Amino acid sequence: MKNLIALSLLLAQWVVSSSAASQQPLHDAALSSTSSLLELHKSLVEIPSISGSERNVSTFLIKYLESKNFTVKSQPVSETRENVLAYIGPSPKAMVLVTSHIDTVPPFWPYERKEDEIWGRAVESRLQSSEIAEGDVGLLFVVGEEKGGEGMKKVNDLRLSWESVIFGEPTELKLASGHKGGMGFTMKAKGKAGHSGYPELGKSATLMLVRALAALDGLDLPSSEKYGNTTVNIGRIEGGVAENVITEDASAIVSIKVAAGSPAEIKEVVEKAIYKSCPDIELAFTLGTGPISIDHDIDGFETAVMNYGTYISSLKGNHKRYLYGPGTILVAHSDHEHLSISDLEEAVEGYKTLILESLKT
Ligand SMILES: *[C@@H]1O[C@H](CO)[C@@H](O)[C@H](O)[C@H]1NC(C)=O
Ligand SMILES: *[C@@H]1O[C@H](CO)[C@@H](O)[C@H](O)[C@H]1NC(C)=O
Ligand SMILES: *[C@@H]1O[C@H](CO)[C@@H](O)[C@H](O)[C@H]1NC(C)=O
Repeated sequence: MKNLIALSLLLAQWVVSSSAASQQPLHDAALSSTSSLLELHKSLVEIPSISGSERNVSTFLIKYLESKNFTVKSQPVSETRENVLAYIGPSPKAMVLVTSHIDTVPPFWPYERKEDEIWGRAVESRLQSSEIAEGDVGLLFVVGEEKGGEGMKKVNDLRLSWESVIFGEPTELKLASGHKGGMGFTMKAKGKAGHSGYPELGKSATLMLVRALAALDGLDLPSSEKYGNTTVNIGRIEGGVAENVITEDASAIVSIKVAAGSPAEIKEVVEKAIYKSCPDIELAFTLGTGPISIDHDIDGFETAVMNYGTYISSLKGNHKRYLYGPGTILVAHSDHEHLSISDLEEAVEGYKTLILESLKT
């Protein structure tokens, strides 16, 4: 995900270079951005920023954006974490907001020296193209996305509004037309411990759990043409102490990607099936949302539905919402997260189109 931060900073360079905030001639700005971009990648990749310890990255972002003549405001989310908002000029009001999140799972973004030529060209061509004015574009970096999205929720306290908000997530360079909703639940089985040789004296929590989990296989859950099937993932199971002990406690965490209907309806179906197989298991649901429709009314993009949830509905307001970015979610949480340079180039172009088209409306 750091590639998205680096991309946002590249956009920052474009925004500021296209605006009156820069005193530098365009050509010089383009040249210096080539080497500074390489530095940028390196610095970002070297700073750890797992959820909960993003401070070092935000400190870096603030310094960097200030050096580019952005006005930068940080918003504390907790004692050690902050969102970062950047804009041109004295007012945080802007037509378009581009946002990505600061926290990451460990990234791997290899790059070679030859890339700087490509980047240099990409930036330079961009700089010559358009004028961005004060009040047009703001940049927002939020913390806490990978865990609960509390950073984005906090942004509502700023009481700002935008015409359009562009959310950076890996969409394989497609403009997302929507994404599945999400909900989840935990299952807890309480048995009675005992020696495995005397099962009649105990009650196995693992057996209860297995029966309840089996009920999830082949559930009849709602589907839709746009979003496909509602899917269930048993993400984690726990229980037991040793092979000769009847298990007293067992639990599981389950998540559901919602393709149609409401979380409340799905909860009912799930509860009914589980309680039928295992009446005395304890269920605790987090209801989440149904599918989220996303604006995709800008020409020139392939569109697609995403099967993952995002924090975009945490940001309140009547703004248009766009979800776009390079890379695929299929490797986003793995150790081979990486992007090709041509994807990055296309992404910069894509963001630029989204920004400029949003400014037109
Ligand atoms: C920022 O503004 C100052 C003063 O107006 C100017 O000297 C400087 O070149 C600008 N820096 C950038 C990166 O545009
Ligand atoms: C943040 O930076 C400081 C100073 O460079 C370093 O001591 C600290 O370990 C870093 N924190 C994390 C979470 O990496
Ligand atoms: C949805 O589920 C049905 C029945 O299990 C299956 O045949 C179909 O291929 C699934 N559709 C998608 C898009 O995965």
